[in-house]
Amino acid sequence: MIFDRIKPLDAILATAEKKSLHRSLGAFHLTMLGIGAIIGTGIFVLTAAAAQKAGPGMMFSFMIAGFVCAVAALCYSELASMVPVSGSAYTYTYAVMGELLAWMVGWALILEYAVAASAVCVGWSGYVMGLVENTTGFALPIALSSGPAWGFDGLVPSVDFSTGVINLPAIVVAAVVTWLLVIGTSESATVNAVLVAIKVIALTAFIALSLPILKGENFTPLMPTGLLGHDGLGVVGAAATIFFAYVGFDAVSTAAEETKNPQRNVPIGLIGSLAFCTVFYFLVAAGVIGTVGAQPLRDAAGTVLPPDGAAFTARCAELAQLGEAPIVCSNEALAETLRAIGFPVIGNLIGLAASIALPSVILMMIYGQTRIFFVMARDGLLPEKLADVHPKFRTPWKMTIFTGICVAVAGAFFPVGQLADISNSGTLFAFFMVAVAVMILRRTDPNRHRPFRTPLVWVIAPIAALGCLGLYLNLPFLAKMVLPVWGAIGLAIYFFYSRKHSHVGLGLIEVHEEDPDVPPSAAPPI
Ligand code: ALA
Repeated sequence: MIFDRIKPLDAILATAEKKSLHRSLGAFHLTMLGIGAIIGTGIFVLTAAAAQKAGPGMMFSFMIAGFVCAVAALCYSELASMVPVSGSAYTYTYAVMGELLAWMVGWALILEYAVAASAVCVGWSGYVMGLVENTTGFALPIALSSGPAWGFDGLVPSVDFSTGVINLPAIVVAAVVTWLLVIGTSESATVNAVLVAIKVIALTAFIALSLPILKGENFTPLMPTGLLGHDGLGVVGAAATIFFAYVGFDAVSTAAEETKNPQRNVPIGLIGSLAFCTVFYFLVAAGVIGTVGAQPLRDAAGTVLPPDGAAFTARCAELAQLGEAPIVCSNEALAETLRAIGFPVIGNLIGLAASIALPSVILMMIYGQTRIFFVMARDGLLPEKLADVHPKFRTPWKMTIFTGICVAVAGAFFPVGQLADISNSGTLFAFFMVAVAVMILRRTDPNRHRPFRTPLVWVIAPIAALGCLGLYLNLPFLAKMVLPVWGAIGLAIYFFYSRKHSHVGLGLIEVHEEDPDVPPSAAPPI
């Protein structure tokens, strides 16, 4: 049997209890942590890609993605309150569906956290370069400030260097954030609060300046690519991309081990931060569409071009030669919108706000990634050496540097939209598994105390699972393909390494503190 290795919930809780971190975070902190991790490249940058995919219909895309995240968050909350330990979806799956699927979820979470960090590095690069160009007139050549475009020639992957070769600013920011994490910089609650305030003020200013001058005609045609377009186009396709703008709310649950009264505070933090961002995002999307218009670019035959492709970039370059700068071409959509409607200084200030605040999202994503690696190494599924703590800095430095290198390489050679889509494919898989895990646990362990119960679980959890599946199916082909290929690599590693070294497999289940007479190795053989 390959689904036999389940880590009992009591053992997970005992492990956490023994090795747990100081519990210092409250509901307000968690909500701020959530907002800090959520608001980033998605709203500041990917709004342009969403507009190219769905036109003004992207407003609905924000709502669809927000809705799927909300139902997923309700499922997350039940598990996070029952199992308030680090590792989020990975840990929950271990307890409910066994080691193999937990490994697969942990493996998919690498896509979520590390690739998302890369996407935010590229988003940061776009804003910083735009800010520098608009304030000093200096522009880095495109070959050094953007990665190439990846695609498929039939089933063979292809790469086009006309969109760029290497994104140097993305490498720089990944390196700086990695270094900060190695020397033990964890964002203090105060720093996070300041950065959240900067982002919220920037978005509020955007909304306040754009909403009063909306033009009704910019909203027609409302859905130029339809609801379900081909290869990731259409309102649902844009929702699958813009889903990225909400990713990060689960960082709240990964902090459960450091939370006071997690049973109450984790659900508040998750749902509170998500609700707050959904309202802001919707208003920002309306502001972009209503002021500068958001109709997608088409080729000569009238076909809508997928964003991130070489043909799309070439068309944007052509239009730039003609002095036109449609918002769908922008790497800094919100700043560009404000410049276009006569607020260049505030546009630059929004660029400055993004440049200051986005590195904290990168920091949280890389930190989240090292936490997942840490928990997987603690379970023996990854080499325990990787979890070595630096003698001076007291940080898991090897893991952090390894993660930072991966983040920098992906950020250097991929465009932001493709990175976000790839990250989304992993995240959607993890959320899908969480929704399934909630339902299984309701059946297999109905009497366990659930401090937070997903309301109408038999409606909400299936909707969450189907919502994740639906969004996944509407990702572009490349992003959809990455998940199975990544999964196959993960399975190979599991069977060649992790299965043999697993603590659960070796019978090394931690036992509960209340039962000190039972030695750790006395668990029944699995
Ligand atoms: N939600 C985060 C962002 O948009 C990952 O940058």
